[in-house]
Amino acid sequence: IQTRLVDDIAAAGDLDALEALRVAALGKAGSITALLKSLGGMTPDERQAQGPQIHTLREAVTAALANRKAALDAAALDIKLAAEAIDMSLPADAAPRGSVHPVSQVMDELAEIFADMGFAVATGPEIEDDWRNFTALNIPETHPARAMHDTFYFPDTDAEGRAMLLRTHTSPVQIRTMMSQEPPIRIIAPGRVYRSDSDATHTPMFHQVEGLVIDRGIHMGHLKWTLETFLKAYFERDDIVLRLRPSYFPFTEPSAEVDVGYKQEKGRRIVGGHGDDDGHAWMELLGSGMVNRRVIANCGLDPDEWQGFAFGVGVDRLAMLKYGMDDLRAFFDGDLRWLSHYGFGA
Ligand code: PHE
Repeated sequence: IQTRLVDDIAAAGDLDALEALRVAALGKAGSITALLKSLGGMTPDERQAQGPQIHTLREAVTAALANRKAALDAAALDIKLAAEAIDMSLPADAAPRGSVHPVSQVMDELAEIFADMGFAVATGPEIEDDWRNFTALNIPETHPARAMHDTFYFPDTDAEGRAMLLRTHTSPVQIRTMMSQEPPIRIIAPGRVYRSDSDATHTPMFHQVEGLVIDRGIHMGHLKWTLETFLKAYFERDDIVLRLRPSYFPFTEPSAEVDVGYKQEKGRRIVGGHGDDDGHAWMELLGSGMVNRRVIANCGLDPDEWQGFAFGVGVDRLAMLKYGMDDLRAFFDGDLRWLSHYGFGA
């Protein structure tokens, strides 16, 4: 019976069949179990004769069961592995690729250009108080920029009773930086700003980059050199010339509106550009000036010791000029067709 049992076990086709054979031999009512039980009713002589045989039988069957189980497990694993194998040589499915939005792209470029000139990147919150957005920047209560139609105000004031608003420019970051950092200071502050305005060239949210330098002996020459170096790097051309027009900002004195110009090439049109008699196209680009002494003093610095310049430039406008886009609103539609038309989409 040993040979028969062992042969059956070796031929068991799967784990269920094997388990049935195990129960039939070694289970409670199994044939080998019955033999073992029968030892109890034997005479000592019979027991001595048959006992070792029965035990040998049980061991042989137990070993055969373990062998077959190991073989069946290994076969099952092989089948599973074959079914789950990943073919690393197959080409991957093509997935649509994202890309950096032109506004983010330009902000990255600006950070890089200014990093080369030793500027760090500073940030501030988009929800500001009216002291940092206006008062500290020498914008009096009566200034038109404070009129309700330009500024988004929150209904409640902060703990100190200051009116809360969505910042209308990145200039409050000047205040935050001068109040938290010892000069010399050299920062740019990119970010979102908000004004209640909307047409083809204005959106209620847009992007600015603020620049601020505070040090000893800073003058307009530093401002002009910095802007010229920045604009040549940004537009990737050396023939750029700047025109500083007298202007007014409460937080700079003197203030200058900066136009950028370069020779018009035939067939090359600059969006928003106006040609002059020298063949230059001029574009109004940014606001700038020497930081007003009052602003420096408002931040707790001595304006006799520290001077500086500041500028603010529209990032969206810079992107439009570089990439030839003409409708500002399309920047914020998230339309992939528009993005890919200008080389940004998938
Ligand atoms: N904050 C000004 C604006 O939003 C720009 C500016 C910044 C002008 C810094 C001068 C100096 O129009």
